[in-house]
Amino acid sequence: MQIKKVGILGCGLMGSGIVEVCARAGYDVVVREVNDDFLKRGLDKLEGSMNTGVEKGKLKKEERDAARARIRGTTRVADLKDVDCVIEAIVEDRAAKKEIWTEIGKVVKKDALLATNTSSIPLSSIAPATGNPERFLGLHFMNPVPIMKLVEIVKGIQTTDQTFAEGKAFIESLGKTTITAKDTPAFIINALLVPFIIEAVRLVEAGTATPEDIDKGMKLGCNMPMGPIELLDFVGLDTTLSISEVLFSEFRDPRYAAPPLLRRMVESGFMGKKSGRGFYDYSKKGDKR
Ligand code: 3HC
Repeated sequence: MQIKKVGILGCGLMGSGIVEVCARAGYDVVVREVNDDFLKRGLDKLEGSMNTGVEKGKLKKEERDAARARIRGTTRVADLKDVDCVIEAIVEDRAAKKEIWTEIGKVVKKDALLATNTSSIPLSSIAPATGNPERFLGLHFMNPVPIMKLVEIVKGIQTTDQTFAEGKAFIESLGKTTITAKDTPAFIINALLVPFIIEAVRLVEAGTATPEDIDKGMKLGCNMPMGPIELLDFVGLDTTLSISEVLFSEFRDPRYAAPPLLRRMVESGFMGKKSGRGFYDYSKKGDKR
């Protein structure tokens, strides 16, 4: 089927980026958030990102305006009834995802492509809630979505070859490159990245080194664009904790167990950059301490 209109569930860190890349690629987009406040916050973030794109010469003003005109925000799931493709990018919580898929599954077109941006939850545990598991697959975008070139495609046990081919073609139409993973916890990227990040938290916890030295070490010593602690703040401590819990609950391997420090910080509301504080403090604009 030809995709013209995309529906996105969630306009947070990932959802707003996915809305942006879809609208910039010429798709009409309807994005749903739970309330007007969250919707406004997400759309403001998107606007800021497109303006940065213009400042950096990646996007012409007319292209930004045309992309903006293709985006419509809503708080009603039913407003996604006529979309050709749904991408769910809500909180990384299995129960919440099953709930929203049960709701959307009842209103969406039967031949629509159904995708989750889950970063770790096995598709098979969500697929039945969609009511159409053959049309369901994982499209895992990377943060920051407008900049990162990769999307990891996850083929669930019931995902048909046709669904997979349509998902891949759609991602390529966004100008992104794909890799393919089987339906295993955390797929490829996070199965490698999350153990690396939580190992860095263990070093902080043990007093082996400061976050600054760990980050400096991996940036200057291994040429990474961000060190693991900085990346943790960037991705979100809550998201990283959820991914480590998915991995640990599946494999029961201590290397996936969340360090107590990570859990305490999430409990304290220190979610990273998005909440103004993680291992670093982002409370002053343009300043990271
Ligand atoms: N639209 C389009 N292009 C933009 C843009 C926008 N809104 N904003 C910036 N850009 C372009 C810039 O022009 C620049 O392009 P150039 O290389 O051609 O000059 C490029 O993007 C980089 O931008 P900046 O120079 O402003 O930014 P930095 O050099 O400081 O890099 C970064 C920022 C890309 C975020 C870099 O620090 C980085 O790569 N960090 C690591 C990110 C990462 O690892 N992400 C994956 C996380 S894992 C994940 O997401 C999975 C999840 O499930 C947890």
